[in-house]
Amino acid sequence: MMIELSNWLHVKEAFRSKHLRQAGYTEGAIVMEGTLLDLHGLEHRERRRLENRLFRREIFSYWEHEILGQTIDATMKPFVEKGAGDLAQIGYRCAMNLTATIAGIDQDPRNEDQTELMYSMVKKFSEGATIMHSTRDKDEVRAEVKKAMESFHEDFFLASKKRREALISDFESGKISEESLPRDVFTTLLRNAESLNLDEDVVFREICFYLQAGAHSTANAFTHTVDDLFSWGEQHPDDLKRARNDLPFVQRCMHESLRLSPASPVALRTPLEDVELSDGTLLPMGSHVVLNLIEANRDPEIFGDTANIFDPHREVPDGVARWGMSFGAGSHACVGAELDGGLEIDESRPSEESLYGTVSVMVHALLSAGGRKDEKNPPELDLNSERKHFSKYPVVFTSESDG
Ligand code: HEM
Repeated sequence: MMIELSNWLHVKEAFRSKHLRQAGYTEGAIVMEGTLLDLHGLEHRERRRLENRLFRREIFSYWEHEILGQTIDATMKPFVEKGAGDLAQIGYRCAMNLTATIAGIDQDPRNEDQTELMYSMVKKFSEGATIMHSTRDKDEVRAEVKKAMESFHEDFFLASKKRREALISDFESGKISEESLPRDVFTTLLRNAESLNLDEDVVFREICFYLQAGAHSTANAFTHTVDDLFSWGEQHPDDLKRARNDLPFVQRCMHESLRLSPASPVALRTPLEDVELSDGTLLPMGSHVVLNLIEANRDPEIFGDTANIFDPHREVPDGVARWGMSFGAGSHACVGAELDGGLEIDESRPSEESLYGTVSVMVHALLSAGGRKDEKNPPELDLNSERKHFSKYPVVFTSESDG
């Protein structure tokens, strides 16, 4: 039995219920089995507590101020120098390099071929994780995913593992300090594999999962924010001009865009016992519950009559995030939410304490380098997708002064 929840309160309550288990990744076990998103109850809490240590505000601050700019500059440079590029390619390359750093896979962002190779593998991991939605022959997809995982193991995973193990051993013998260890998921898992009983296959899949979760969502949010800003800028040229020099304003636009175009449009759950929501809606044990984030994020009860419209100046009710539920909620809420989305907007927070988030910094870098739509070469939507995905989105970099 399938039940779809699409109003704000239903989805919020379902996300927070302890009795609803993750159900989106059973078929995608090849990548997802035993990964954080697939765990439930105590096992999930223990792994999450461990990985959460990495996703702390001071680490995000180090990340945003020390790492992000360099990686984005190195990735965007060839496109800016050429004077043109494609949003999807620019977004994926930046997101891939940034996510590899967080996951703990060594990778030089200046090496375009290596980035492209890793990206082609990670795209396959995404296809594997979301295989339940695939319209292709599933065994064929699984065979391709297996091949990509094997190549990734050889080409990237083993060398990164070796380097981290050597560093951990240097730390344990007192040769280096704890601060000299990489602050990434891989190092954290290797240091705690024994206490959490993690075998090598689970660690490997966790890294594959992180790469696909981080890269896909970040790149998706980047393309949608830039597109929404370009479209909004046609009617509101001063706002587009402002976005080129005003990172806090870009963050506002990014949150609004994320609300309208969540990277994962649905979350799936199955009740482990009968669950009754507070208005009496029954979710029977074993049913297939679809949490529709697109609809919930446009609920007029919460976002008003203009809920379907992109408006970066929108005011939202207290206690409601500007990005809606695009980062999920409850025990599986996205660990990367602050990293990608920054802190909730608070005009009274001093700017040195603010974090604007990876996606806003990427969008701002593109706009401040003079990125604009290539009017001679308009974007095209992917006709094979029911959702709004672009198959191409050419941009040019110029120093014209108009929007
Ligand atoms: C705009 C960017 C992002 C969006 C929209 C997004 C969205 C989400 C959503 C909706 C979930 C919950 C899924 C569910 O409950 O079924 C989730 C979980 C997760 N996300 Fe993200 N994500 C983003 C970026 C990232 C990044 C950058 C990382 C890591 C580097 C990341 C890592 C994770 C992990 C590990 C989980 C599982 C958490 C758990 O199960 O406890 N995400 N994300």
